[in-house]
Amino acid sequence: MVIDKRSVRRAALVLLLVCVAAARAVSAVGDGPLLNGNFEDPPNQSQMSGSVVTGEHAIPYWKTSGHIELICSGQKQGDMVLTVPDRTRALWLGNGASIEQQISLTPGLYYSLTFSASRTCSQDEMLNVTAAPVSGSGGSLAQTGELPVQTVYTSSGWDSYSWAFKAEAGLVSIIITHNCGEQEDPACGPIVDAFAIKTLSQPEATGDNMLRNGDFEEGPYIPPESPWGVMVPPMDEDHVSPLPGWKIMSYKKSVKYVDSAHFAVPRGACAVELVSGVETALLQEVYTTVEGSWYRLEFSAGDAANGCASPSYDDGSSSPGMKVKAYAGPSETTVDIDFRGAGGSKRGKIEFRATASPTRVVLLSLGYHTKSDNSGTLCGPVVDDVSLVPIPQPYARRLLL
Ligand SMILES: *[C@@H]1O[C@H](CO)[C@@H](O)[C@H](O)[C@H]1NC(C)=O
Ligand SMILES: *[C@@H]1O[C@H](CO)[C@@H](O)[C@H](O)[C@H]1NC(C)=O
Repeated sequence: MVIDKRSVRRAALVLLLVCVAAARAVSAVGDGPLLNGNFEDPPNQSQMSGSVVTGEHAIPYWKTSGHIELICSGQKQGDMVLTVPDRTRALWLGNGASIEQQISLTPGLYYSLTFSASRTCSQDEMLNVTAAPVSGSGGSLAQTGELPVQTVYTSSGWDSYSWAFKAEAGLVSIIITHNCGEQEDPACGPIVDAFAIKTLSQPEATGDNMLRNGDFEEGPYIPPESPWGVMVPPMDEDHVSPLPGWKIMSYKKSVKYVDSAHFAVPRGACAVELVSGVETALLQEVYTTVEGSWYRLEFSAGDAANGCASPSYDDGSSSPGMKVKAYAGPSETTVDIDFRGAGGSKRGKIEFRATASPTRVVLLSLGYHTKSDNSGTLCGPVVDDVSLVPIPQPYARRLLL
């Protein structure tokens, strides 16, 4: 009998893949991509009909339901050529579709999920993200967030989104649901790709700073090769924030978490780019201030060197410059930034007397900006290195001088 070497090798490879799949049906988590988080593993062809997923276990490591298609980069939809952020494949979620992966986590720790999403129609989309305990006593402790996939923040049409949760059990199902209601065109629906997860530490206030995570060094997973940063969408008051210590207050608009590998960041490895003008505020409530006492808020406001508000646009108009507004308790300040797209930052400062507790610290951008490359990519000033410290009463200080 002649044995074709290639088919032996292929059989061995299939066997190996099956073994790996069996051994790791539940992904154990380190920071980084979920198992088959980018949908590149070949699907089970007997559970596919062309690009349509027909069986719930067709996509390795995922369980799917509803109308789902495996999209390949370069595929056409209408007259639009689809691109895919992470290599060649992504999933299109029809109305009522959901995808699910079980991951093992450490109960009690906080995690942030990052994934890419793209709209396929001009209408707004919403995605529900749920973390549901599978094992243990936490059956009722599922956490769900509604993420608006609405504004396109980057010119590629793809944005990375983040969402965070607390692991309420050792085994948690991550479920993404697209449920658009009846008014929406069922041919629309978001495409998703590049799922990754990261353990979120919970930095506390220190002797030098009454704010938690004032330097934004802790935040959601940013795929190392991604030049776009990661959107942090608005969240409900009681939800876990992908930016520990901070809340994003908005109806539907996000802020962007950016890294120093791809953006000019005032200090350290990460900062927040305020890309949604006055519609989105970055907020922290400080419960340790004492009414009647004096405090100083300081922060950096800068230019991310990403071609935002650079000197002039192609049509000859000149940039309006950027402004960051900060509030601390009853006081406020505005910092003008005019680095002409070249990077650089300034310090803003507010000295104030706390009139209520908690003290709210709020940062927002006063303008709307797009990159000067005509791509329509939304951008804005970056903020970083925010600190709040107690100070002696200014009047008493003046007497001492
Ligand atoms: C592929 O799907 C078929 C039909 O559901 C199933 O019998 C088979 O075990 C699956 N193969 C793998 C490798 O999962
Ligand atoms: C998200 O979940 C809520 C509550 O279960 C539901 O009312 C809403 O329609 C869902 N939205 C989407 C986009 O699936």
